[in-house]
Amino acid sequence: MEIIEHLKNHKSIRRFKSDPIEDTLLRDLIYCGQRASSSGNMQSWSVVISREHASREKLYELHSRQKMILQAPVVLTFCSDFYRIRRWLKIHQAKGSFDDFLGFLTGMADAVIAAQNVAVAAESRGLGICYMGTTLWASDKISEHLNLPENVVPVTSLVVGYPDEEIPEVRARLPMDAIIHEETYHPKTDQEITDLYREFEKQTWTRYSRIPGMQDKLNEAGITSVAHYYTSDMKYSKTLHQQVSEMFVELLRSKQFM
Ligand SMILES: Cc1cc2nc3c(=O)[nH]c(=O)nc-3n(C[C@H](O)[C@H](O)[C@H](O)COP(=O)(O)O)c2cc1C
Repeated sequence: MEIIEHLKNHKSIRRFKSDPIEDTLLRDLIYCGQRASSSGNMQSWSVVISREHASREKLYELHSRQKMILQAPVVLTFCSDFYRIRRWLKIHQAKGSFDDFLGFLTGMADAVIAAQNVAVAAESRGLGICYMGTTLWASDKISEHLNLPENVVPVTSLVVGYPDEEIPEVRARLPMDAIIHEETYHPKTDQEITDLYREFEKQTWTRYSRIPGMQDKLNEAGITSVAHYYTSDMKYSKTLHQQVSEMFVELLRSKQFM
C-alpha cells in the first residue's frame, strides 16, 4: 500500500496468533527504526526484544495483565539510552554529559520516533502492533526486569505479531481543526471545544457499547460520558497519574538522569 494510504488506515491490534516472527524480518523492522532521524545522530535509544514465554509472563504482570503480551510472539521495549554513549565518551576520554533531564528527554524523543518507524514497517509487512502505555506506569519494575543500567529508562513498548482478529474499523479522530493552529496558538471557546468533540464522543461511546460487559461496568461506576470515563478509575485517574509521576521522577534520579 502507498505509505500515505497505509498511515491513514492504521489500527492498533489487540489479539495475536502465536506464530513467531522470523528473526531476519524482526531485525529488518528494527533497522527501519534505526534509520529514523535522531538527535545529533546520537541514536540515543535501545530496544529490548522479549520473546521467551517466561519473560513475557513477567511483562504481562507488569503491563496490567494485558493479554496480548502473552499471545504475541514479541514485545519490544524502547528505552531512552545514554549509557552506551556515555561509555563511548569515556573510552575516548571526552567530557562526560547527558546525565541530566535533557538527556532523558532527548533519548525519549529518539526512542519514540524509532518505535513509530518500527510500527509502520511492521504493519507494512502484515504484522499488527499495539503500543503499551503501561510501560511508563511500571517503568521502575520493567527496568529491573530487563536489567537496564544507569541512564537507560523504558519509555514505550510495542507488542508485535500476526493479527488474530478481524481487522478493526479505523478509530475516530478529532476534526483537524482541533489540533491545527495557524502561526500562533488560538485557544478555543467552550462551544468550539464541545463542537469539535461531538462526533468523537458519539463514535467512541458507540464503540464502548459494543464491547461485551463494558456498558454494565460504566453503569455501575455511574459513568455517563466519554469525558467522565477518561479520568475515572477505569482509565486514567488523577491518583494513578500522581503516583506514576512521583515514581518516574524517582526512577530518573536513580538512573542518574536528574
Ligand atoms: C503511547 C501509547 C500507549 C498506548 N497504550 C496502550 C495500552 O496500554 N493498551 C492498549 O490496548 N492500547 C494502547 N495504545 C493504543 C491506543 O489505545 C490507540 O492507539 C488509540 O485508541 C487509537 O486507536 P488506533 O491506534 O487503532 O487508531 C497506546 C497508544 C499509544 C500511542
